[in-house]
Amino acid sequence: MNRPPVEQLADRLLLLLRKETGRRFPLDELAAALSAESATLLAAAKQLEAWGYTLQTDESSVRLLGTPDILSATELSWNLTTSVIGGRILAFQQVRSTNDIAAREADNGAAEGTVVIADQQTQGRGRLGRVWHSPPGAGAYISIVLRPPCPPEKAPGLSLMTALALAETLEDFCPKQVKIKWPNDVLLDGRKTAGILTELSAEKGRVNHLVVGIGLNINQGAHDFPDDIGRVATSVRIAAGRKIERVALVRMFFERFESEYTMYRQHYLRLSLPRLRYYSSLIGHPVQLLSGSELIEGIAVDIAEDGSLMVDRGGRIMTVASGEVTVVRR
Ligand code: BTN
Repeated sequence: MNRPPVEQLADRLLLLLRKETGRRFPLDELAAALSAESATLLAAAKQLEAWGYTLQTDESSVRLLGTPDILSATELSWNLTTSVIGGRILAFQQVRSTNDIAAREADNGAAEGTVVIADQQTQGRGRLGRVWHSPPGAGAYISIVLRPPCPPEKAPGLSLMTALALAETLEDFCPKQVKIKWPNDVLLDGRKTAGILTELSAEKGRVNHLVVGIGLNINQGAHDFPDDIGRVATSVRIAAGRKIERVALVRMFFERFESEYTMYRQHYLRLSLPRLRYYSSLIGHPVQLLSGSELIEGIAVDIAEDGSLMVDRGGRIMTVASGEVTVVRR
């Protein structure tokens, strides 16, 4: 994926300008630092403006005044404090599915923590063969390549771990409104704002790689969802009552995700259980659960150390590893 030289210079120019946003950089200084001619630098500055950066440019200087809220690799990695997650970020305006690209990258040896992110998906996939509505400009569609040193049966816990990292990120934007609907949805005010689709490649009893796909509704307004989705979905913007800076939210998520994942690699979900219980939308409620072709009814009472849901069926506790849950309203 070779980018045109003007885009590459624009990236390098941006890194310099960002060090002191608002400072007027003399063109001579930039030319010397970037080994480029003034005319090429001005073309790179124009490229930055085309990407949405606000610059003040004249024949002798360039000044950065504002950055756009675009999910580009440059914006996302600026001052990112993680050491693994987002070590490499592949950012796209439009893709079919970020999970597909991440799986292909992983097959070709992509390092753990590689992130594929897009502003829009044309074939976004949800669980159980559903579509994930992925319009441009409002959400974030993210896939993360992981290579956990664990047997495949431990992998489902990673979806819950991801939900926890999302919940804790969203808590900063919408305090006390966040819940996790086991096994992989995050709710704000009882409506779905994020979904997780984890796809696994395993061989000889070991996880080869795993792609965690996250669809996150951030800046959609109430009328931006198709009718059927609008009945059950929401966005961070709707719940917080203000527009959200997507780049800031996604970067915070990467940081949370990395600390949860570091813990998971050592302890699986053991240390996360108290917080998983705290955020659970199901514990204490009567539920109906479709696990395979079996319909299970009972009261959700706990989450087990391996991430299974524990359901009380008239005094007998049943442990369910995965399934589609409905809370029964009485
Ligand atoms: C669900 O709730 O059904 C899971 C939705 C997962 C959607 C995300 S968006 C990024 C990644 N790419 C995909 O095609 N799907 C996941």
